[in-house]
Amino acid sequence: MVEKGKNLLERIREIKNLPTIPEIVFQVLRLIKDPSTSISEITRYIEEDPVITAKVLQVANSPLYRGTTEITSLNYAASRLGLAELEKIVLSLSLMKEIKGMTRQESRLFWRHCVSVALMADVVNSFSKNPIESHDPAKDDLFVGGLLHDIGLLVLRHHFSAEYEQVIIICEASDASLYETEKELLGTTHAEIGATLATNWNIPESVVAMIAFHHEPERSPDAFWRLAQVVNIADFICNNQGLGFSGEINIYKFSEIAWWQLGLNIEEVPKMLEKVREKSKESLLLTTIGI
Ligand SMILES: [Fe+2]
Repeated sequence: MVEKGKNLLERIREIKNLPTIPEIVFQVLRLIKDPSTSISEITRYIEEDPVITAKVLQVANSPLYRGTTEITSLNYAASRLGLAELEKIVLSLSLMKEIKGMTRQESRLFWRHCVSVALMADVVNSFSKNPIESHDPAKDDLFVGGLLHDIGLLVLRHHFSAEYEQVIIICEASDASLYETEKELLGTTHAEIGATLATNWNIPESVVAMIAFHHEPERSPDAFWRLAQVVNIADFICNNQGLGFSGEINIYKFSEIAWWQLGLNIEEVPKMLEKVREKSKESLLLTTIGI
């Protein structure tokens, strides 16, 4: 029998080997957010991690960024990429590390879903009325929120596989969504679990809110409702169109309030999809970090 109610969330909080954000990643993310930080201060931390260093150099030398000569200096690579791109690389590598216990195909689909929602969130925002402008840091947070929205599913699959399996069996035999079935059966959801994890990671509050409320944006605190609404719509479109798969079955609903408040137009969905397809073709996250 599945242990119900708060117990599961409490048990999650007590797990000692919950995915942790490595200290170096935490420091890099903290420095990136601090406007007084110089690139060389950030690269001093990155240099300590050979995997991140290699990835930053690899992305800086990809056709989209490289000039005529090969970039071998981490400092130069970091300034060529810019802080927002560095943040995406660092966070993506942390997320990928946690994709365990899945077949290669499942990992690919999970990863594709996360990146597609991140790209789609950006596109949904740009098609909405009064979009968040590119100079607003919330726009970068939107990408991160899209990328991490389903991270709670990784914790459920990995640490509570028996409970998760039961949720899937019941979900498959009904019309209820995975989210609703989790609520009913576990008394918590992957959204809540993901938000708990992100809070442990000291990820910005806005990103925690996107993870926590991506299925119910109307429950989001006012300051983040728009971000949560954008991720809700982006997630629905990606699921509906089969852009990757995170394991969420029976997703038939999106927040209609979000749709109207964002001022989206159904006839523009094909254009949004086209934009995401274009972006995924050139997405460094899919092409150079892809599993
Ligand atoms: Fe979800």
